[in-house]
Amino acid sequence: MSDPTPASEASPVPSPVPSSLDRVRPLIRTRQVREFTDEPLSAAEIDALAEVARWSGSSNNRQPWRFLVIRDRATLRRLAEAGLPQTRALHTATAALAVVLPVDPARAISHAYDDGRVAERILVATAMLGLAGGITWVRDDVVGAARDLLGLPADRTVRTIVALGHPTEAARHPKSAPGQARLPRAELVFDERWPAS
Ligand SMILES: Cc1cc2nc3c(=O)[nH]c(=O)nc-3n(C[C@H](O)[C@H](O)[C@H](O)COP(=O)(O)O)c2cc1C
Repeated sequence: MSDPTPASEASPVPSPVPSSLDRVRPLIRTRQVREFTDEPLSAAEIDALAEVARWSGSSNNRQPWRFLVIRDRATLRRLAEAGLPQTRALHTATAALAVVLPVDPARAISHAYDDGRVAERILVATAMLGLAGGITWVRDDVVGAARDLLGLPADRTVRTIVALGHPTEAARHPKSAPGQARLPRAELVFDERWPAS
């Protein structure tokens, strides 16, 4: 009688346990992308990114934000033109998520923190979906134009519009030479106390 155990089970090849660093590498690889192909995002992908935004944590769980999903290419291009150079990623983006916040000087720092948290989560989520994203910062002198293009009332503002799309082949490549993208660890991370100079 033949042995019913498949060969793969009889001589298992031990699968290497990924290191902690390997497990967080997708996060490390999440980068700013500014060039996208013409391929649109699917409705399911946009929906997933909007859910990530909605579930982001905010100070005191106030959820001060509202999110605008922008798919109209003409609007995306006009936003790009209005805020160059910071908004250049919107030239080729096939969609974007605008983080709309209340105008409230008393909460400016807290809102900026919330804004950053949600923007980064959207970038990470795009990477998890095999897409890419880019933060575009709406300068103070551009907010009026952005407000008009997006139909925002006077008591709402927008600082961050995350450009979304499928990255071009060129955009997939590292922007810096190996070892140049970040300061060396020894210059950035210290144990327990500020290092003696
Ligand atoms: C607070 C903040 C604002 C940014 N604003 C812009 C922006 O307006 N336009 C842009 O193209 N990139 C913007 N970026 C992206 C940075 O330029 C980018 O993260 C940095 O150059 C490092 O590149 P990498 O993320 O691909 O490693 C911003 C990033 C942060 C954190």
